[in-house]
Amino acid sequence: MAFTDVSVTFGQGKDTVQALDRVSLGFGRGSFISVVGPSGCGKTTLLHVLAGFQKPSSGRVTVGGTEIRGTGADRGVVFQQGALFPWMTVAGNAAFGPRMRGASRREREERAGHWLRVVGLWDFRDRYPYELSGGMQQRLAIARALANDPAMLLMDEPFGALDALTRERMQEELQAVWRSSGMTLLFITHSVEEAVFLGTDVVVMSPRPGRIVGRFPSPFAQDAATRGTRTVKSDQAFVALREQVLGLILEGAA
Ligand SMILES: Nc1ncnc2c1ncn2[C@@H]1O[C@H](COP(=O)(O)OP(=O)(O)OP(=O)(O)O)[C@@H](O)[C@H]1O
Ligand SMILES: [Mg+2]
Repeated sequence: MAFTDVSVTFGQGKDTVQALDRVSLGFGRGSFISVVGPSGCGKTTLLHVLAGFQKPSSGRVTVGGTEIRGTGADRGVVFQQGALFPWMTVAGNAAFGPRMRGASRREREERAGHWLRVVGLWDFRDRYPYELSGGMQQRLAIARALANDPAMLLMDEPFGALDALTRERMQEELQAVWRSSGMTLLFITHSVEEAVFLGTDVVVMSPRPGRIVGRFPSPFAQDAATRGTRTVKSDQAFVALREQVLGLILEGAA
């Protein structure tokens, strides 16, 4: 996956907002890319460009060497704000991707059921999204994206509405899924700790116009399964990297 000199400008004249300024960024298949940066710095815009929702004003984005020309089932998206189908049950939402692909009923039920269990929503499978809490809706959006088995998963603050305990559990689940699937992940978060814990690489963006101001390899993504989340997060090397990333963000804001 590669961004080459990607800029995005919204609006015209005095209302112009430059959301991204010549962003260049390349990652191999199977990377787990965490993106952090202050509110309004262009993180969602970056994700929308890769998803194919937003055309760059200039520059190009390629996946597997091919320039992207719109959305595709190879790139699953979990939006910052839930985009569930309110007229479908929880199970219906989770089975949506496989259904669009024309998967058999049996396969659809298996896939949806598996991911609903993983995110802890199996008991709510016959409910509707409005009957779920905000955090539960977010977990459903994650299950729905994963049920589609995308080669690349783009997640925009997916754990923002979760309580601390559920959030940590979901971090562990996501890491396990990523490790076993070979999927490439782009993960936006406001939590520096989460970014450092999950990512193989942490990308730091500056306030408007959004630029990449830092990129840190993080070794901890491979660690959690064997050493345990709490041990990793309190590790001295972990805390040092977390502070380094946070320092860069604060520096940019000053
Ligand atoms: N469709 C749009 N039309 C006009 N301006 C937009 C549009 N989308 C985003 N912007 C502007 O682009 C800038 C970057 O927005 P973006 O949503 O990418 O930020 P973000 O880093 O995701 O912020 P947050 O952390 O708050 O979600 C902002 O100034 C925003 O106002
Ligand atoms: Mg955003």
